[in-house]
Amino acid sequence: MSYLETTAKFYSEVAQTPQVGLCCVQSSPLQLLGLKIPLRMQEMNYGCGTTVHPTELADAPTVLYVGVGGGLEALQFAYFSRRPGAVIAVEPVAAMRDAATRNLELAAKDNPWFEPSFVEIREGDAFALPVPDASVDVVAQNCLFNIFEPADLHRALQEAFRVLKLNGRLLMSDPIATRPIPEHLQKDERLRAMCLSGALTYESYIQHLVNVGFGQVEIRARRPYRLLDRQTYGLDDHLLLESLDSVSFKVPIPDDGACIFTGKTAIYTGSKPAFDDQAGHILQQGLPTAVCDKTATKLATFFPKDILITDSTWHYNGGGCC
Ligand SMILES: C[S@@+](CC[C@H](N)C(=O)[O-])C[C@H]1O[C@@H](n2cnc3c(N)ncnc32)[C@H](O)[C@@H]1O
Repeated sequence: MSYLETTAKFYSEVAQTPQVGLCCVQSSPLQLLGLKIPLRMQEMNYGCGTTVHPTELADAPTVLYVGVGGGLEALQFAYFSRRPGAVIAVEPVAAMRDAATRNLELAAKDNPWFEPSFVEIREGDAFALPVPDASVDVVAQNCLFNIFEPADLHRALQEAFRVLKLNGRLLMSDPIATRPIPEHLQKDERLRAMCLSGALTYESYIQHLVNVGFGQVEIRARRPYRLLDRQTYGLDDHLLLESLDSVSFKVPIPDDGACIFTGKTAIYTGSKPAFDDQAGHILQQGLPTAVCDKTATKLATFFPKDILITDSTWHYNGGGCC
């Protein structure tokens, strides 16, 4: 059996018998006015963060959701788009498709604004998304891509890139590892399926996104997720996993490299009213300006006496320098 088959088997089990807290992070659930989430759907929250960022959803986008789980985030996306077929949820596991269908029918009873037709559940998988090129505004996946081995992750990201319109956004939440996960854990297919041993480091995760062509990535949240303790997992030392929420934009990669926003700002500390780096960044004296990590490094390197760069907050909500 391949690790992808083990994964499908695992999710078939947890579709039939919910495993509360399988992947969730300790954070308050996204509360939206007039949205009631059925208990059964909450119990099947198998996401490790959130991909539903209201700032990305203002224009009722068409959303392709990969790996529907119990349907929680599909419902949340439908809240913003509210029309038949606005959310296309792709799921290879029959039992999970059935569970999500049932949960969405329950949601329709509790939410007068919602109709099950708003979410179209399609059989398919992350490596062959059943939609044409450049046809959706948003692709979202929560706690699925971390399960994939690197070559499969590359394929899944290429597929997401293919189906997005130009300027479209890939919204993701996944665990990342604070150091590379040892091979004996990476090879454990059940741990991988449980989102515990496939995670990449932050640097490698971001590089995969850039490798398929995303020109801008914004980090929306980064927080502790799980501890792989040395006793249970046969490690020299404890290994902390974090949860990373990100938004990647299908825009061209600038000549000098992709823009990755992690919440850094640049502050001009000199005595003039403003500073112009002649590369498109004008900084007002004493006023923090959001910059991507590439620009932060350049400013700190070329103007060390005049510019203060603040640390990554790991929470960046849009806009920016480049
Ligand atoms: C960790 S769960 C996350 C579910 C959902 N995103 C959530 O936040 O609750 C992973 C989901 O991806 C599905 N899945 C597994 N392999 C897949 C594949 N190759 N392509 C698409 N979805 C897959 C699983 O059946 C399951 O529904």
